[in-house]
Amino acid sequence: MKVHRITSKLFILAALAVLSSCYYDSEEDLYPELGCSTDDMSYVNDILPIIDQNCMVCHSASANFGGVTLEGYDALKIWVDNGRFLGSIRRDPGFSPMPQGQPQILQCNIEKIESWINDGAPNN
Ligand code: HEC
Repeated sequence: MKVHRITSKLFILAALAVLSSCYYDSEEDLYPELGCSTDDMSYVNDILPIIDQNCMVCHSASANFGGVTLEGYDALKIWVDNGRFLGSIRRDPGFSPMPQGQPQILQCNIEKIESWINDGAPNN
């Protein structure tokens, strides 16, 4: 009888541990945007680091893959204005999915870029 009680206590502890770890996992799935701030985006501080990290290896002025240069505000602005910058990172139909051969960039980074473009893509 005593052994049985200890076993069931252990079982409850194990079940709690499993449940709490599941809860933690699902919280991240449910709120993936937790901590993603998209207000008042700055080209220099917010947008440029995303491009440097994900795109520059192929789209610097010297690499210029596909004839696409994203180095410098003026060069980037051409691709912002014709819609292909956003279309390619969002992987909308009709655009080449970017970054090429790699997973889509983080949803939070896409939202930052969308917010910056909605503000008029300022050179700030
Ligand atoms: C591994 C190299 C590579 C990386 C990294 C890469 N690209 Fe490209 N990109 C290319 C090549 C090659 C082309 C031309 C062929 C094509 O359109 O698929 C291209 C084309 C494009 C175009 C024109 C697409 C169109 O539909 O007209 C845009 C815009 C673009 N890239 C943006 C980006 C952005 C933004 C990133 C970073 C998030 C990025 N690329 C990362 C290689 C890359």
